[in-house]
Amino acid sequence: MKIDVCYTPDLIHQYEVENKTVVVIDILRATSCMVAGLASGVQSITPVATVEECEALGAQGYIMAGERGGQKLPQFQLGNSPFEYMKPELRGKKIATTTTNGTQAIELSKKANEVVIGAFLNQKAVVNHLNKTKNDILLFCAGWQGKYNLEDSLFAGAICNALKNDAEFESDSALCALYLYQSMASDISYYISRSNHASRLTKFNVREDIEYCARVDEFNVLPKLKGAELVL
Ligand code: MLT
Repeated sequence: MKIDVCYTPDLIHQYEVENKTVVVIDILRATSCMVAGLASGVQSITPVATVEECEALGAQGYIMAGERGGQKLPQFQLGNSPFEYMKPELRGKKIATTTTNGTQAIELSKKANEVVIGAFLNQKAVVNHLNKTKNDILLFCAGWQGKYNLEDSLFAGAICNALKNDAEFESDSALCALYLYQSMASDISYYISRSNHASRLTKFNVREDIEYCARVDEFNVLPKLKGAELVL
């Protein structure tokens, strides 16, 4: 089994996603929300690329969620906080979401053999699944508007670290992620709080989201794309 890391959607054209298990990673905050929501009883989450697609699903009865630039859209019921996704009234409900980076990365992964959702919140569940898969693996970081980000790369490194004895690193991207993680593993929460997107989010008063998204193994669930929907 081979493993590689794509650090931003702007680099995905250099990778083949077909026949692979793609793990989409957007720690702050899209994939953390997906894990928290589905683990808390949300029936399904449909990720879409545009606000218009989300509104079309809203007209069909979906709860509309997401953000642009980190901020909730006024016409949506939910923003992009894991705490909003864990509300008891969302149990059994279908959510449609569009976000600046995370749902774009999912869109670009759709030709993969399978697409799963990774976050620190479900790290062990991701590793357990990857240990069983027969596919080669691509860890796909959503980044920020096409650029590299720390928190997604750090999580990619955590997965590379967990699989380093069983998987062959396909390129130096995986090796760099491994070394990054190994140099920061002692205090993940601190290093995430130093990231560019954490500063951006702090201005919107969502410090608790940043701390929550850095928690490891809160949930033993693995969201997986089935058709257009993420389900457990
Ligand atoms: C994204 O998809 O870009 C993020 O989840 C942005 C955010 O923190 O809301």
